[in-house]
Order: sequence, then C-alpha cells, then structure tokens
Amino acid sequence: MVPRRFAGLPERVRSAAVLARGAAVQHRPSVGLAGGAEVDAISAAFARTRGGGRRVLVGGFGGGGGRTTVAAGLGLAMAAHHGHRVVAVDASPDQCGLLAHRVGLIPPGVGLRELAAARPPVSSLDDVRRYLASDGSGGLDVLAGMRDLVGPGLVPEELAWSLDLLGHWYPVIVADAPSGWNQPVPATLLARADLLVLTVRAGEAEIAGADDALTSLIAAGRGDLATTVIVAVVETYPSRLSRGARMRLEHLEDRAYITVPVPFDPALADSRPINWLRLRRRTRFAFQRLAGAIATAPLPGSGPALALARPALTAASADNRPASIG
Ligand SMILES: Nc1ncnc2c1ncn2[C@@H]1O[C@H](COP(=O)(O)OP(=O)(O)OP(=O)(O)O)[C@@H](O)[C@H]1O
Ligand SMILES: [Mg+2]
Repeated sequence: MVPRRFAGLPERVRSAAVLARGAAVQHRPSVGLAGGAEVDAISAAFARTRGGGRRVLVGGFGGGGGRTTVAAGLGLAMAAHHGHRVVAVDASPDQCGLLAHRVGLIPPGVGLRELAAARPPVSSLDDVRRYLASDGSGGLDVLAGMRDLVGPGLVPEELAWSLDLLGHWYPVIVADAPSGWNQPVPATLLARADLLVLTVRAGEAEIAGADDALTSLIAAGRGDLATTVIVAVVETYPSRLSRGARMRLEHLEDRAYITVPVPFDPALADSRPINWLRLRRRTRFAFQRLAGAIATAPLPGSGPALALARPALTAASADNRPASIG
C-alpha cells in the first residue's frame, strides 16, 4: 500500500519513494523512522561497513553563506587531486541546475527525481551517468536537483535512495544541502553523512552562530559529526575580520578538526561558473586544503584516539589520503 504522504506524487516517483523506504529499512531506518540516538548508532555502524567511502554534507545556517560555492570548489579539488570518482549532489529542494552550472557543466535535463524513479533501477556506472551532468573527462560529476519546481517537493526517501545508489559507484559524494539540520531534506543528508563541512560566512555574528550549529548537531542525533567537523569560513564579500570575529574564530578552531578560510575571489562572485585556473592561487589552495581534510579526517566509529586527532598533530598534508578510499 502507498503511504498517504506519497499520494500527490507521479506514479514513477511514488514507487521510487516506496522502494526507497524498503531500501532504507534494509540498511537502516530513514530519519523519520528512528530517534536521534538510534540514528546515531545506526549511522556509525553503517559507515563502518561501507569500506571507507565518504559522504560529505556541505551545510550551514542561513541563506547565501557559501554552501554551493564550497560544495563546487571542494568537489572540483577532490576530483582533480585525489584520484577518486566524485559526484556532487544538488540537494536543495528548490533549485535544479545551479550546482552543475557552478562547476561549468550543463545539466542533462534529468536529475535526482528521475534517478530515484528509474525503472529498472540503474545497475552500472554508465547507467548512472545518464542522469548526471558530466564532461566525460573523469572529473567531477553532478546530480542536478529537482527540475519541476512547482510539483511535489523533494521526498526524503528519494534523496536517500539516490545517495545509496550513487554510493555504489562513487567513493566520494559531496552534497550541497539546504540551510539547517531539522527539515526533512537536511535531516536525511545528516543521517547519511560521514563528514560535515560547516560553511560559515566570515562575519562575527555568523561565526558565533556556527558554535550553536555544532551544539545543535547533538539534538539532531549526529553529535559525532561535530568531532570531525571541517569549517569553511567564506568571504562572500571583500572584508576583514573584526577583532571580535577573530576571537570567535579562535574558539571555533578549538572545536573543529580544521578551519579553512575561503578568501573573497572575484572569480567566485555572482554565482558564476568556476574556472579552476582563473581562481586566485590562495582560493585554489583553500579548496585543496578542504579536500585534503576530507581525505584524512577520521570517519565516525573509527576509534576515539583517531577521532580526537587534529591535522596539525597527525602531520596530514593535502596529498595524504588513507588507502581505504577509492
Ligand atoms: N569566496 C567567495 N568570493 C566571492 N564571492 C563568493 C565567494 N563565496 C561565495 N560567493 C558568492 O556569494 C553568493 C552566495 O554563495 P552561495 O550561492 O555559494 O551560497 P549558498 O549558501 O549556497 O546560498 P543559498 O542559500 O542561495 O543556497 C554567491 O553569489 C557566490 O557567488
Ligand atoms: Mg546554495
């Protein structure tokens, strides 16, 4: 029987959502079905069994904080310099081709909903790639979001199903999340994330808010992600940090695995497509540092000693990566 909350969806999508519910139950319950502690425990167990692949949530609070920019730059850096197959997922429920556009790709006219609803389900990398924006060069691939912005919104189960499908072929998944943790879409991403990149605009109030965002991860059932959080402090406009902001940042640095400033760069402004070679050298370096942190950060459940390690203590460099990836 089709649950009432899927009733307004087209048949193909409805069946994908129902199928996804089944899949989610097989692996672990979706967010709506489990309490915080339960999700926490299941997430850790699931991460351990996935052989070291990384699902990275790029999230934060408020609009225009640089999530899409960081997801794009990080994805490009990971694909170019770490030798993994990387896919970036546009998981904002109200945008379609923006992330693909940001990395200079043309979305293929299908996206997340179509991938989730594919019948029979995709069963090979070639199959999956028909749903992705890709230039075929082995660089970053992108799953566009919802094409029909006036139809039923993104259903958490179809997102979960798409992530699980992609995980079969992509050892690194970078998700551009909507704001916050508690709405169904970010909560679904959070429950499936191995690592969190918290994106914060470079202002005193925003940096102070990042502390609260980390604390509220516990209430969202993923306090474990706070231990290894990678913070990107994004200068979305040319600015200098005030003294107060610098003090807040020092405090945040104590809590984070690593804090990486992403400097203002005119080549990143106005949501224009990113041309890697046109970025300033320090901007490229910032994205490479983020990519290096993703490759070296300990995954949930990988042991308390590792989980407390900081890059400075482990002498991790942007070129180091654990053998378990890729
Ligand atoms: N380092 C940077 N230098 C210059 N401009 C930037 C930088 N980072 C982000 N921007 C610009 O700031 C704006 C907001 O960035 P972005 O779209 O990445 O934020 P977002 O959090 O994804 O926003 P939304 O809430 O709309 O999803 C964009 O116009 C982008 O081009
Ligand atoms: Mg965005």
